[in-house]
Amino acid sequence: MKPESNLSRRGFIGGTLLGGLGALAVDPMVMAQALVSGKKPEDIQGHGIAPGYVNLSSNENPLGPSPRAVEAVAAHMFDVNRYHWSFMPDPVEGLINALERKHGLPVTETTWDNWEEVTKNRRLALSAGSSLILHAVGLATVRDKAELVQAQPAYFDTADVWRRFKEEEGLDVKINYVRLTRDLRHNLNAMYDRINDNTTVVVVTNPNNPTSTVVDHDALVDFVRSVPSHVTVFIDEAYIDYTTDPNYRDAMYLTLENDNVIVSRTFSKIYGLAGMRVGYAALSPRLRRKLSLYNLGGPPGNLALYAAIAALDDDAHYERSRRSVAEGKVYLGEAFERLDIPYTPSDSCFVLFRLGDKAESVFSALQERNVWIGDAMWWGLKGHLRVTVGTPDENEAFINTLEAVL
Ligand SMILES: Cc1ncc(COP(=O)(O)O)c(C=O)c1O
Repeated sequence: MKPESNLSRRGFIGGTLLGGLGALAVDPMVMAQALVSGKKPEDIQGHGIAPGYVNLSSNENPLGPSPRAVEAVAAHMFDVNRYHWSFMPDPVEGLINALERKHGLPVTETTWDNWEEVTKNRRLALSAGSSLILHAVGLATVRDKAELVQAQPAYFDTADVWRRFKEEEGLDVKINYVRLTRDLRHNLNAMYDRINDNTTVVVVTNPNNPTSTVVDHDALVDFVRSVPSHVTVFIDEAYIDYTTDPNYRDAMYLTLENDNVIVSRTFSKIYGLAGMRVGYAALSPRLRRKLSLYNLGGPPGNLALYAAIAALDDDAHYERSRRSVAEGKVYLGEAFERLDIPYTPSDSCFVLFRLGDKAESVFSALQERNVWIGDAMWWGLKGHLRVTVGTPDENEAFINTLEAVL
């Protein structure tokens, strides 16, 4: 299979060698040694992880957060005795307004006098990580005899809330799983066909986890516009910052046109703030008020807010993170091709690959050698594994270890 990115192998190798091994480049012997020796897990010091471990399992940003976010946390760490509204300006308001501007949503500035009225009409809600949004959508839509539609395999936090209501509370609910197409994309037509009068929510994970595939934007717009208004359409865009799809368009505007649409994002992935827990959703004021009953809008802590505001302002780190993942995907794709391992071209920061019967034993053997990757088998994708794109050193250590255990 061909990688989607147009970055060349030569460009990637040139970049890493000139950067990481630049000092060695003058001595051909040392250079040759460096090329054949290859990184191993024991050579790795990953960001935020103990030395000797290669952690490519949770789709985090291996470069770490923006230095500006770290500075912002340091600048505010002695003020955590205060609630966010004690600060001037309030960082909750600051982050909401920054996100409204970024996504072309109406900017809702509050004062002491208009606070209640303005927040009632807001179209953006913060959350301590986007998982809570996925959860709140589940809580707000589950009820006896209701139906949910989602792709399979796909990220399933919202459906999982429903499953638990069925198993633990005895609710009579139906979760309609719709198989992905042969090229592992959402089958929006088949999903549409599963909608009926009892359907309360449809979930679209874009790009999808664990397959890394995106939904074509025009097809998504057609789908959203045709879904009946009694159904909430929930679009989870946790990985959208990494897409290289030429048809990509920020989907947040769909929430301005459609009262029943929610689009969620997170600071856990490209912004490198998974441990800070910041997510947000764009949605109609009606849905925002409804989901607030399930604590949507309960904001992240002060340090997380300041980190997110600073991260949003650091375009250089954002671009660096995007570029590093794009280059890593080229490296991994070429390695998989060399090793004759089928893989799915990725539109996010991880790559799904197929090892068939060997998948389980290879997964365990990698773990024994301190290389952690994702196991796509428990998503129902037998014989598949999922690797997050790491730094060049981590990617190399992963491939070298994979080669050793195959
Ligand atoms: C598709 C998808 N959505 C949402 C999340 C939740 O991320 P967070 O709660 O860190 O924002 C994840 C986490 O891996 C994910 O893969």
